[in-house]
Amino acid sequence: MNLKGRDFLKLLDFTAEEIFFLLDLAAELKAKKKAGIPHRLCENKNVALIFEKTSTRTRCSFEVAAHDLGMGVTYLDPSCSQIGRKESIADTARVLSSMFDGIEYRGYGQEIVEKLAEFSAVPVWNGLTNEFHPTQILADFLTIREHFGYLKGINFVYMGDARYNMGNSLMVGCAKLGLNFTACAPEGYFPDEKLVEKCREEAKKSGAILRFSTNPEEAVRNAHVVYTDVWVSMGEPFEVWRERIDALLPYQVNEKLMRAASEDAVFMHCLPSYHNHETAIGKEIGEKFGLEALEVTEEVFEGKRAIVFEEAENRMHTIKAVMAATLSNVPNSPVD
Ligand code: CP
Ligand code: NVA
Repeated sequence: MNLKGRDFLKLLDFTAEEIFFLLDLAAELKAKKKAGIPHRLCENKNVALIFEKTSTRTRCSFEVAAHDLGMGVTYLDPSCSQIGRKESIADTARVLSSMFDGIEYRGYGQEIVEKLAEFSAVPVWNGLTNEFHPTQILADFLTIREHFGYLKGINFVYMGDARYNMGNSLMVGCAKLGLNFTACAPEGYFPDEKLVEKCREEAKKSGAILRFSTNPEEAVRNAHVVYTDVWVSMGEPFEVWRERIDALLPYQVNEKLMRAASEDAVFMHCLPSYHNHETAIGKEIGEKFGLEALEVTEEVFEGKRAIVFEEAENRMHTIKAVMAATLSNVPNSPVD
C-alpha cells in the first residue's frame, strides 16, 4: 500500500483497502501521540491551507497534525489571498505547488478542488466542499471502530438533509466499507440519484445495504449510530431556514428517537451543532421559530450516548494520516 503523491478529494477515488489503510495509520499515529512517541514523518516539508469558508476543527487538525509531522504551515483565508478574485484556481495551483509540498482546500463546489488538483504538482486534500467532506468520514469511522470494535455490519442512520456534503460522503463511506446506510429525510432531501447508483455498485462489493426512508422511528430501529448535521450549511442563504425547519423538524434527533434505536446506539455529529441557544445563530433561529434546539436536542447532545467530542478529536489523527500517507513513504505496519 503506497498512497504517496495521491490527492484526497473524495472517498469515491479510493478502494476499501486504501481507506482501511488510512484508518489503521490514524490509529497508529494516535497511539504514538498519546504515548509521546515522535512521528515526524514529513520533516521539513510545508503545507498551504486554503479556507474559503470558516472552520474550527478542520483548520486546527491540519495545523496541529502538520506540526506533529514536522511541517511548516501557511494559512490562507479569502480576505488575505488573491484566490478567485484576482487569480484563477489553475494559476493558484501552479504557484502554490512550486512552494509547498501539499495543499488543503475548503470551499464551495467540488469542481474547484478537482481543478486545483488537476493543476497542482503536489497532493491536494479536500477540507470540505458543498458536495463532499471526506476527511470527516475518516474521523467518524475511526470513532465508530474504536467504540464498537468493528465497522462492517454497523447499522448507520443519517437523519436530516441528506443531499449535502455530510449525507453524500457518509453514504459513499458506508457503501465502500460495508456499513449498512440509511438516509432518513423528507422527500426531496435525499442524495442525487447518480451518486446513489455509484454507491449501489460499491455496496454490491462490500455487502452494505443502502436504504432510504421518510419515517424516523422506523429508520432508527436496530441502529448502532444515529448521525445528523446542521439543517443549513455554510454558504447557503439565511432565508432557507424557514423551509428547512418546516421540512426537517420531524427528523430532529431527540430522546424519543434515540430510545427507538438499538440499546447501545450512539449519537454522532460532525459539529458545529445548534443544540441550544448558546450560539448567535442557535439563539436567533431558536427564538424566531420557538425552538430550544434545532437538529439535535440538548438532552441527546449532552447525554451519555453522544460521542461527538471523541469524533472531533479524531479529525486530527485522521487528517494526520492523510497527510503522512500522501507525502511520505509510511511503513505498512499495524498499530504498535
Ligand atoms: N466538522 C468540521 O468540519 O468542523 P469545522 O467546520 O469546524 O472545520
Ligand atoms: N454541512 C455542514 C458541515 C460542516 C462541517 C456545512 O457544510 O456547513
